[in-house]
Amino acid sequence: MPNIDVLIIGSGIASLTVAAKLCKEKNVVIITKKKIRNSNSMLAQGGVAVAIAEDDHWKSHFDDTMNAGCYANREEMVELLVKEGQRTIQSLIKEGMAFDRDEEGNLLLGKEGAHRARRILHAGGDRTGAFLTEYMIKRVQEHATIIEDETVIDLIVRNKTCVGVITRTEEGNVQKYVAQHIVLATGGIGGIYRYTSNAQVITGDGLAMAYRAGCELEDLEFVQFHPTMLYVNGYACGLVSEAVRGEGAILVTSTGGRVMQGVHEMEDLAPRDIVSREIYQRLLQKERVFLDISMITHFEKRFPAITELCHRHDISVEEGLIPVVPGAHFHMGGIKTNQHGETSISRLYAVGEVACQGVHGANRLASNSLLEGLVYGSRLGELLL
Ligand code: SIN
Repeated sequence: MPNIDVLIIGSGIASLTVAAKLCKEKNVVIITKKKIRNSNSMLAQGGVAVAIAEDDHWKSHFDDTMNAGCYANREEMVELLVKEGQRTIQSLIKEGMAFDRDEEGNLLLGKEGAHRARRILHAGGDRTGAFLTEYMIKRVQEHATIIEDETVIDLIVRNKTCVGVITRTEEGNVQKYVAQHIVLATGGIGGIYRYTSNAQVITGDGLAMAYRAGCELEDLEFVQFHPTMLYVNGYACGLVSEAVRGEGAILVTSTGGRVMQGVHEMEDLAPRDIVSREIYQRLLQKERVFLDISMITHFEKRFPAITELCHRHDISVEEGLIPVVPGAHFHMGGIKTNQHGETSISRLYAVGEVACQGVHGANRLASNSLLEGLVYGSRLGELLL
């Protein structure tokens, strides 16, 4: 293989954003342990949060992010996210990314927990992650080398400088790659939990490799549980987006009592940690918890992926009650980086969920992670150009 300028491990939105910035100028290689489309980004439903509406402001998005994060966020990183996010999304739209619009062509904006405004851009109804990932794959695939079914098992570090990686192929062959710059974009740790919204491949590999290499990590204790996984026969079977509650759905018990009433002023749209904890308490008391979606008209049209998920598990959305359980969703902690994605090891970078530059604090605000991947992925791409 010719000299590699930038070697990226992982294939979610952060990885693809870095690659898209660089792949026409540099020799970029992406290594992924399954296929290019096996990522959490591909599964993202809700959308991309951005203060784009006329009556919205980056400061309000900033305040909601800080509040959800329990003020454990790094303020300067949050400001950068929400301000640069506006420019990043505007240029993505200009370049041709098709977010959902109404019949007059206005962008449709959804609402999710702990947001005080409607500011969630979505695509394909609830298939935002898939639409965005496909859009980025198209920009990258002709220019970058994509190696699938190969697992990076360790970093090669000499004198506090990362110079390459060791991999294992599906056949068990061990390979070595040397590169100028190595980017970890391996996602979080959700796949190791019993109840999770994550893709099975998301098992903390990047975090573990960075730890073994002596890289500085931060906030590892902050793990977010999403309140609503579809719950069937004792299994969490996939995400039921918070955007469903944004459209009016409410959490109820089997006897019809409202779960979030009197618990928080935002009720069903309270921050995720609060809603998850409340549902968990109900489950400990042997109650069952459902999302009552009966008031949402045209549910199938607005949420086609969730409708399909329910039908696949013999849950009828027409009957209006979806059984739910909280599940591991997002790791706020990770490899400590600065605003460009640089880590404490030279020539090693981290971006996306595996990284912790401090934007999410103790609890990520809904739909801030695709935005983070786009904004901080672009910044890292600029740095490495
Ligand atoms: C959801 O659609 O509820 C998840 C969105 C997110 O975690 O950002």
